Amino acid sequence: MGTEATMGVIARQNWMQPLEEGLQKALHKLFGAAGPAGQKAKDFLNGTWVGHPLHVILTDIPLGTWTAAVAFDALDAASGRKHWKDAADAAIAMGLVGAAGAAVTGLTDWQDIDPPARRIGLTHAALNVGGVALFTASLLMRRRKSRGLGQAFSLLGYGLAMLSARLGGNLVYGQAVGVDHTAGRELPEKFTPVLADSALIAGQTIRSNYRGTPVLLVRSGERIFAMVETCSHLGGPLSEGKLEDDTIQCPWHGSRFALEDGRVLNGPATHPQPCLEARVHKGQIEIRKRTPASEPSPTAVVEPSPAVTSS
Ligand code: FES
Repeated sequence: MGTEATMGVIARQNWMQPLEEGLQKALHKLFGAAGPAGQKAKDFLNGTWVGHPLHVILTDIPLGTWTAAVAFDALDAASGRKHWKDAADAAIAMGLVGAAGAAVTGLTDWQDIDPPARRIGLTHAALNVGGVALFTASLLMRRRKSRGLGQAFSLLGYGLAMLSARLGGNLVYGQAVGVDHTAGRELPEKFTPVLADSALIAGQTIRSNYRGTPVLLVRSGERIFAMVETCSHLGGPLSEGKLEDDTIQCPWHGSRFALEDGRVLNGPATHPQPCLEARVHKGQIEIRKRTPASEPSPTAVVEPSPAVTSS
């Protein structure tokens, strides 16, 4: 079945909706009940410290080791040597450990994605549960000396894991889950006016625009912060978010970014928010792309010269 047809079948499974909503609610409650520790655990599992989702690293473990297990089983069938049997069993066990990590991180990410990706994600998870169950059964059979049956279970589990990987690929490449939603935005190389200085009230957020790229502007005391306005997580409008202590919280799934340098303070976002230099010139707020030389320096630039006026 082609990708489009497969996604169409999944999209039509409306009976899954209450399950999706209930599970997302339960996961939010679970992390929320643990307070700041829950937030820290969530950030860790999302991969805010890695700079991209942790889940995609961990999924390589079961896929790699189970592929190896199938190959070792084939070598065992061809040679009958004991070390191929041992290698296959060890690879399956290793894959199960990796799958546990992939499941926990995957569920953590999944609680903050929206339809239609949410349903594809849940189907992906269900296939993975099936794959894990089959590989677990395979390991048990092998330990009970039913190696032939164990190998058959492995093959079935591997088939499910491959189907699931296909959905995982669609989530990333088709639904843009886990990718940086600020990537490729056009930003000015030179200082360019985007808003009248008088229009930016301290403590408020404003969405300005540079050639189709929405830019968030915030005045805080003497400083002006500028960053790409669409959230790196899934493109939420940061100008509608919550401003607090020089941080901005996305209204969609609660990611929090430092206005000064765009770093992720809380997930689910894992990619930082691109920041720009900002200044007031001739009554206009001007922005430009940060250069490597300006990188760690603050986003805001003070009023530069006596030529500055209020409009
Ligand atoms: S879009 Fe999800 S946190 Fe911003």
